[in-house]
Amino acid sequence: MEKAKSLKVKNMSKKPVLNKKGWTSISEEWGRVMSPDRPSRYEIEIYEDYIQKIVNKSKKKIQALILGATPELRDLLAKYDVDVTIVDINSDMINAMDQLLEYSDGKEKVVVSNWLEIPLRSDSFDVILCDHGVCHIPFEKWGAFFAEQARLLKKDGHLIKNVVTVEKNETLDVDDMIAAFKNNIFTRDDKNYYYWSCIIGMKDFEGKQHLKNFQDFDDQLEKFIKGGIITKKQFDFLKTFWHGFRATFPPKEVVDDIISRSFIIKSIRNSAANRALTCYKIYFGQVKK
Ligand SMILES: C[S@@+](CC[C@H](N)C(=O)[O-])C[C@H]1O[C@@H](n2cnc3c(N)ncnc32)[C@H](O)[C@@H]1O
Repeated sequence: MEKAKSLKVKNMSKKPVLNKKGWTSISEEWGRVMSPDRPSRYEIEIYEDYIQKIVNKSKKKIQALILGATPELRDLLAKYDVDVTIVDINSDMINAMDQLLEYSDGKEKVVVSNWLEIPLRSDSFDVILCDHGVCHIPFEKWGAFFAEQARLLKKDGHLIKNVVTVEKNETLDVDDMIAAFKNNIFTRDDKNYYYWSCIIGMKDFEGKQHLKNFQDFDDQLEKFIKGGIITKKQFDFLKTFWHGFRATFPPKEVVDDIISRSFIIKSIRNSAANRALTCYKIYFGQVKK
């Protein structure tokens, strides 16, 4: 497979980045990561459904921008006659994702930049796709993050974005998880369901708005080892993959409000292939221009 062409655009922006170093260590493990941390086949079908709507409506070749280097999204777009640009702040992640591509034609443009300040011309893209990137933006910059995408989109351009949203009736705590774990058969799907319900239900880290610290989950879980309720082996099964990471997970109404400032929300689909993922929503929006 040809390697993706690099534009060698580097943006030395001083805008804030969460987990900047963490991605380099994660990049080495990404080949072994599974859904829900990578998009499932079911989620890619939703992305494809939206992409088809855009491609079928347009008489010209589509210009697409992917925030991140997500191989599944790049492989999806390679099926269509679309010009693709990817933008990610971490070159190690870009290189690692290149190795996981199956169908890329090697013609993508690659930009190394913070999403908050992308060094590309306004009104350039028909569609922007992103799988969970916004959770890596501090909450106070969410408005600026979506405004930057609105700037880059052409009039009537679209956004397709998977976002973790919090709905109060969907949150749980670690006690609920351990009770279910001890009393029932506990599958990988169960783990994902309880794990994400606990993560979105956690207290805000250091009082920062909607910021969740994955380490807090492991800290709570460790108390159950100390109490003799779970073994170290069981802890290793239940613990977070996102060790050392922090992420922004606001309530659904807040997500809707911020996206609506820059986009008309056309549709929101639960990206769940199973009950584990009801907090994952794929938004399809049209830019307000
Ligand atoms: C798209 S996100 C989430 C993972 C996603 N589910 C996937 O399959 O790729 C992962 C990428 O976001 C990038 N990233 C995080 N914050 C960023 C920022 N502020 N600007 C640009 N890239 C960022 C990381 O470097 C990482 O490669």
